[in-house]
Amino acid sequence: MAATDVSKHGMWSSQWLFVLAAAGSAVGLGNIWKFPYMAGENGGGAFVVVYLLCVALIGIPIMMSEVLLGREGRLSPINTMRSLALKAKGSPLWVIVGWMGVLAGFLILSYYSMIAGWAFHYVLRLADGTFTGADGEFASQAFESFLVQPWQMIFWHTLFMAVTIFIVARGVSRGLEVAIKIFMPTLFVLMIVLVGYSMTSGGFAEGFAFMFNFDWARLSVDGVLQAMGHAFFTLSLGMGAIMAYGAYMPGSASIAKTVVAIAVLDTLVALAAGLVIFPIVFANGLEPGQGPGLMFVTMPLAFGQMPLGTLFGTAFFVLVSFAAITSAISLLEPALAFLVERYNAQRHRVAISLGVLCWVLGLGSVFSFNYWKDFHIVRELNFFSFVDYLSANVMLPLGGFLIVLFVGWVVPRAIVEEQMSLSRGFRNIAWQLLVRVVAPVGVLVVFGYQIYGSLN
Ligand code: PHE
Repeated sequence: MAATDVSKHGMWSSQWLFVLAAAGSAVGLGNIWKFPYMAGENGGGAFVVVYLLCVALIGIPIMMSEVLLGREGRLSPINTMRSLALKAKGSPLWVIVGWMGVLAGFLILSYYSMIAGWAFHYVLRLADGTFTGADGEFASQAFESFLVQPWQMIFWHTLFMAVTIFIVARGVSRGLEVAIKIFMPTLFVLMIVLVGYSMTSGGFAEGFAFMFNFDWARLSVDGVLQAMGHAFFTLSLGMGAIMAYGAYMPGSASIAKTVVAIAVLDTLVALAAGLVIFPIVFANGLEPGQGPGLMFVTMPLAFGQMPLGTLFGTAFFVLVSFAAITSAISLLEPALAFLVERYNAQRHRVAISLGVLCWVLGLGSVFSFNYWKDFHIVRELNFFSFVDYLSANVMLPLGGFLIVLFVGWVVPRAIVEEQMSLSRGFRNIAWQLLVRVVAPVGVLVVFGYQIYGSLN
């Protein structure tokens, strides 16, 4: 067993709470907001297939690697990498993986908070019946006029960050565990109800075909990288969130089983979100490739037309907001745990300082939709899309690649086998193959394809 069997930051009270917490981290805006709009921008089917392949062949082995590292180290990702590199007599430079993760978490949270703020705003808009009986034109207009008002966006961004800071400061097990237990299953049930609704919306066949018809020609070279980046993003991989959570996981739980459960759950929520949104898009003559506004235009529209739409619509955005909170706290946890370890600081002090810093960075994303709309950092990327692109498509895959290399090639096999409860045999061979070859080569192939594509 691990050198220490408990973490100083606290422990999940059972393996199920680990599953719930990790699923809480994984299931978030990535599934409901980002996946549909990215699939929409990249032509549907082929994007979905590449994303699913990346989840299965790259994401799952990397998630297992993160959990096992966390549980072995029982520290923040930075210190876990440091101590395990030392133990394995590897290079001290491995600690950079931890630092890069902290930075990626920061970048992601800065805009994540803005988008979650949009969801907060939409809770009110649905509750007050703004969208009752609305058409597509109205829903698009409403969203666009919201974006041009930075003050409103800043208000919601501030509120979301404050809530996140508050929860993180209290420590993960008090309050959060309870809340996840209620909200996650409710979200799941509501998604199923909504899929049922969208089956009757008239666009289901078209929406379904859009998502599952594999048409390679519609997927650009960059789309392949985006599909892989999204697999990392949606599973919360490559930046230490899952490693940090793994550090609080009981020693007896099976890593393989829990990780597969989390990945399946996460994927089901994303596919359900797609099956809700695309039929509505096609039934109302909307544009699937309209970008980040997709969820905020389609969902209010659907709720405006359905019976009890005010109720369901409000519930939907409440649940989305909640899913975002359970992800946001995991974006802060690696940095937070590190600072607590390093300076013996109090959790709430660290939470506030980190949150404020992130909030400031988030203003850049807020302004990307109004004041800085025409300001591009590289090519067509504005501040928001640049931060998103860099973190999700570059930093997370790179971090995940290094993590899986570390587990596959550096950490002593005895440690890994014990954590994974593997004896010699077929499962061990399959595992070795996945972490040593398939996952790292997979990331390299996608990166290579992207570089090759951009040179041509
Ligand atoms: N997985 C979260 C989502 O899908 C986002 C996230 C990314 C959380 C990275 C933690 C770390 O919304």
